Amino acid sequence: MERLELLALLLCGGVFLFGTADAVRYMVGGSSGWSEKVNYTVWAQDKHFYTVDWLFFVYQRNQFNVLEVNQTNYDACNAEHFLRNWTTGAGRDVVPLNVTRDYYFISGNGFCYGGTKVKVHVEDSPPPPASPKNSAGGAGAVSGRRGAMLIAASTAAIVVASLV
Ligand SMILES: *[C@@H]1O[C@H](CO)[C@@H](O)[C@H](O)[C@H]1NC(C)=O
Ligand SMILES: *[C@@H]1O[C@H](CO)[C@@H](O)[C@H](O)[C@H]1NC(C)=O
Ligand SMILES: *[C@@H]1O[C@H](CO)[C@@H](O)[C@H](O)[C@H]1NC(C)=O
Ligand SMILES: *[C@@H]1O[C@H](CO)[C@@H](O)[C@H](O)[C@H]1NC(C)=O
Repeated sequence: MERLELLALLLCGGVFLFGTADAVRYMVGGSSGWSEKVNYTVWAQDKHFYTVDWLFFVYQRNQFNVLEVNQTNYDACNAEHFLRNWTTGAGRDVVPLNVTRDYYFISGNGFCYGGTKVKVHVEDSPPPPASPKNSAGGAGAVSGRRGAMLIAASTAAIVVASLV
């Protein structure tokens, strides 16, 4: 009886892992990170962001920061009236994109004027696992994540097999 319960638990775990395999953590700007080297309009334009995804800002912590602003202040690079300061101080900030709306982020310290600003449009439902996201930057993250899920699921299967 105990074994059966454990088996059921492990199988459920496997299903759960597969079910959540769609979330993507996007490193903003790709390998260049949050800097002055990237056109973030171009970076974002081929991506689809969903309410399960995250943005990951990686940058020189003594120079840049991550401030969420509204559209007016994004356009004007006005860092004084930010909606939320996502800066933690480590130069590595994670932002959950958990609401269906447009998000606007800028760097203060004048860097916004140099192009360190990004707008992302967040859509409601993630696509079914059968249709992977068609984006250059996200593709690696998706397959990496899926790979990890597969490993986790196969480990569960091996544990199950050894119990039976
Ligand atoms: C970024 O690229 C877009 C599209 O090519 C262009 O319209 C825009 O002027 C560029 N922005 C900067 C800051 O160079
Ligand atoms: C953004 O906030 C400013 C105040 O900082 C306000 O004047 C402006 O109307 C707001 N813009 C939008 C699009 O909400
Ligand atoms: C944002 O928060 C960080 C960490 O608390 C702080 O060091 C920084 O001064 C804040 N930035 C602004 C513009 O308020
Ligand atoms: C979205 O995430 C932010 C940051 O963790 C949190 O403050 C906010 O309450 C969340 N909103 C929803 C609708 O979950």
